[in-house]
Amino acid sequence: MRVLSGIQPTGRFHWGNYFGAIKQYIELQYENDGFYFIADLHALTTVREPTVLRANVRDAALDLLALGLDPTRATLFVQSHVPEVSELYWILMTGAPLGLLERCVAFKDKEARGIKADAGLFTYPVLMAADILAYDSQCVPVGEDQNQHIEVCRDLARSFNAHYGETFVMPSARILKETAKVPGTDGQKMSKSYGNVLALFEDAKELRKKIMRISTDSRPMEEAKDPETDHLYQLYSLFATDEQRLEVRDMYLRGGFGYGEIKKRLADVADNFLEPLRKKRQELASNPETVDRALASGARRARTVASDVLARVQKACGIKP
Ligand code: ADP
Ligand code: TRP
Repeated sequence: MRVLSGIQPTGRFHWGNYFGAIKQYIELQYENDGFYFIADLHALTTVREPTVLRANVRDAALDLLALGLDPTRATLFVQSHVPEVSELYWILMTGAPLGLLERCVAFKDKEARGIKADAGLFTYPVLMAADILAYDSQCVPVGEDQNQHIEVCRDLARSFNAHYGETFVMPSARILKETAKVPGTDGQKMSKSYGNVLALFEDAKELRKKIMRISTDSRPMEEAKDPETDHLYQLYSLFATDEQRLEVRDMYLRGGFGYGEIKKRLADVADNFLEPLRKKRQELASNPETVDRALASGARRARTVASDVLARVQKACGIKP
């Protein structure tokens, strides 16, 4: 099955991005024909500093490869390296009702907050539809927040097919596990926009410091506590083995422990998981040509598929004979 997803290079990936999305992409690469891309064109709607955007794309590629995305199994590429997508985007724009785009939350949110939106942000879901349809994608794993965009994509594909004849493969969303909603250092959902993130490839010492500063409540140590509603426990569970997790769970249920102790344990299990990945990332960073080669070969493969689809679309709508 052709599985496709994109991730924006808008900053360093954090624990939420990994457990909520990237980890699941990596798992899907084994049984499927995975297409994964770094959405630099989408990031242009927010990152307007060229050196920052270039560095972010590089970092995203290094992070994804170090985390286990295997370019010999999946097709890993940069969105803008496939210009066919931008051409398809225009064709889809000509059939995109304004009302449909006005209902999209990314645009509505900005407008409601009084931020001036540009045409790029307004038509963002159409570019996303082009990303999906250009590769005959069948399954699109995304977080719940992106589901509306997949619906827009399906609407656009449906109306194109109805008007010009069967052209696009109809994709379905696969909503990534809700249980993977990772809390940040303040207990809210971890997100760049809340400034509460723990980055995956943070310096080890810095990470330990940030973990020690995770907010906790001021209930007395002796009191028994419900582990399931505690963000420190939720973070610990991401990395702990079942045995480690059950031991800490018991500590919560009995009471008589300090949060400092749990933080120390969290720093240890996280470090244990991250240390080999840091090494792998360093190795990749010192071999830039390996990364370039992986991205170039991904783009070649992606373009082969996208140019076939684009030719089909151009023929259907009368752009090409
Ligand atoms: P951010 O909120 O930090 O800007 P993005 O919106 O760029 O993150 O998210 C990229 C991907 O990571 C999406 O698929 C999203 O669902 C997932 N993701 C982001 N934060 C979390 C989180 N705290 N828990 C689970 N998944 C998350
Ligand atoms: N908009 C998505 C996000 O912010 C990223 C993205 C761009 C994407 N194009 C896509 C996801 C196509 C899935 C399919 O997370």
